[in-house]
Amino acid sequence: MSATELTLTRPDDWHLHVRDGALLAAVLPDTARRFARAIIMPNLKPPVATVAQARAYRERILAALPEGADFQPLMTLYLTEATTPDDIAEARESGFVHAVKYYPAGATTNAASGVTDLSRVYPVLEAMQRHGLPLLMHGEVTDSAVDMFDREPVFVERHLTPLRNDFPDLRMVLEHITTREAAQFVQDAPAHVGATMTPQHLLMNRNAIFVGGLRPHHYCLPVLKRETHRQALMAAATSGDPSFFLGTDSAPHPRHAKESACGCAGIYSAHAGIEFYAEAFEAADALDRLEGFASFHGADFYGLPRNTDTITLKRESWTVPEEVDFGGVPGVPLRAGDTVAWRLTD
Ligand code: NCD
Ligand code: ZN
Ligand code: ZN
Repeated sequence: MSATELTLTRPDDWHLHVRDGALLAAVLPDTARRFARAIIMPNLKPPVATVAQARAYRERILAALPEGADFQPLMTLYLTEATTPDDIAEARESGFVHAVKYYPAGATTNAASGVTDLSRVYPVLEAMQRHGLPLLMHGEVTDSAVDMFDREPVFVERHLTPLRNDFPDLRMVLEHITTREAAQFVQDAPAHVGATMTPQHLLMNRNAIFVGGLRPHHYCLPVLKRETHRQALMAAATSGDPSFFLGTDSAPHPRHAKESACGCAGIYSAHAGIEFYAEAFEAADALDRLEGFASFHGADFYGLPRNTDTITLKRESWTVPEEVDFGGVPGVPLRAGDTVAWRLTD
């Protein structure tokens, strides 16, 4: 297929970091222009761990929206060892908290308040299973003896498989999957187990971290994997399986925090958050599968109505700026200084 124009039901982003303060105001318009809704990650400092904190954060996001924007933030709670079954009941009641996020302690950006051992939160998981509230997972072990590139498959084997046995009805999403093993796990699991996929893991393999020198703007967690894994992810994303859906994991960090002796993990992609997926699906000759992945599967999984308006992309290349404003400090967007093949029309 060589379409030159593509109209889709407006998509949603099921995994997004918008941060807070000036950075929030700087990045939110990119998402609101493309997506109707987004699952907002709770890894602020301090974390968004209570319904009261989620309510206040939601208000700050709504206040930061550009005039006339029609965008709904879908809030999540950060699971800590202090989270209680009552918090879960309150989250369910709230109507604006849609999931709970599990970070293994220390696994990624602002994961210090995460969970050290899943057995410590079993009463909370039991409440989530009962209330039908999904558990979103950063699925990597933090065991320093495990090779960086194996941390996701080892998580699947060591933690996810036992968790599935202990909580067979718990709704779960394995976030930002990067390996054949993770895709296989989700394919084999029932419909209430899903996965999100980022543009970087569909478009790039780990060579992208080292082209001609060290590329800190291609560093995220879980780290990019080898080409065979990228191909397995592409096959899953374009298969039409409703367990797989769009989650950009757009994760802004200022330029100075990325270009550092100890650079932060996270890639900013919201400025072309749907366009990148169009490139990936086009390369697999699967543009006809993009709408399901981007606009239907996630809404269906979360039990939310599908959007009714549309967006249109044109096959027209444009150049991503070298640098964008991250609220008074510069940030480097994915594909900076290079071209994107699809353009969003207004
Ligand atoms: C995310 C961030 O910066 O908040 N970083 C990343 O590399 N993906 C955290 C996360 O999603 O793990
Ligand atoms: Zn993560
Ligand atoms: Zn993330």
